[in-house]
Amino acid sequence: MLIDVNTQILGILGYPLGHSLSPMMHNRALQQQGLNYVYLAFEVEPNCLGKAVQALRVLGVTGVNVTVPFKEAIMVYLDELTEEARMCGAVNVVKNRQGRLVGSNTDGPGFIAALQEAGVETGGQRVVILGAGGAARAVAYSLARAGVQSVTFVNRTYDRAVRLADFIGRETGVKTRVVEWDSSATIAVVQEAALLVNTTSLGMFPGIEDMPPLDERCFHPGLVVSDVVYNPRETRLLRTARDKGLQTVDGVGMLVYQGALTYEIFTGIKAPVQLMSEVVGHHLAKNEG
Ligand code: ATR
Repeated sequence: MLIDVNTQILGILGYPLGHSLSPMMHNRALQQQGLNYVYLAFEVEPNCLGKAVQALRVLGVTGVNVTVPFKEAIMVYLDELTEEARMCGAVNVVKNRQGRLVGSNTDGPGFIAALQEAGVETGGQRVVILGAGGAARAVAYSLARAGVQSVTFVNRTYDRAVRLADFIGRETGVKTRVVEWDSSATIAVVQEAALLVNTTSLGMFPGIEDMPPLDERCFHPGLVVSDVVYNPRETRLLRTARDKGLQTVDGVGMLVYQGALTYEIFTGIKAPVQLMSEVVGHHLAKNEG
């Protein structure tokens, strides 16, 4: 890679960033396509976010991804937000457009693209979402826009699910419902659903033996089970579903497609999705192995 006076700077803002796969995924794609960009990790102390955004402006950084803990906090520093970002209440991509910083969100669209790649139909389906945090909001908003029939939220903290369900219902017009975590009502709604999405952190490394509490009867034929957790690639939830013969969609697809959509925002060029997927898959397999 030749870095010269024209090299454009991309990166990721977060804290901590020790495990981020984005620099590797983007740099490999940029190199393969021969684009004159470099993608760096900017680990920013949480109380320095404002200064970091100012630095993006002053240094003319072309674009950054934004991750924990800044996805919500960064919004006040930006000049413009896309509708997706406003609705998700979070930004994972900032693009510098001639000095104006525009925040967008590719997490939800990345999730939908991963489902599409797996051949999962969303139109007219009943969906159950486990969780009611930031990931749940992005996934629910995108599923509603993709034309699902209804979204039922199941969350450990019931009130949080009620607030999210009200918001999604109001903003998108999709039918929403909330049922108690780990209850017989959970079994009933999952039995009627075509898609179950885990957006909680249960099952994520190092807690790899954890999974959301789901009765055997939830895993009915015809249910697709999806997880936004990508480390490990096959969570205990997905393993359980696969053992019962169900189709599963892992979180790597969402990670890769949010990356691909980000890449297209940054460069204006179609991302090499296959390569990005291989880079991430290879890295995760190496770590698990
Ligand atoms: P993110 O932005 O990744 O969605 P978040 O907003 O902190 O992160 O949300 C985390 C989600 O995982 C929440 O739905 C949370 O449930 P609560 O709203 O009850 O906190 C859920 N979660 C995290 N740890 C959990 C656990 N041990 N059991 C059940 N749910 C858990």
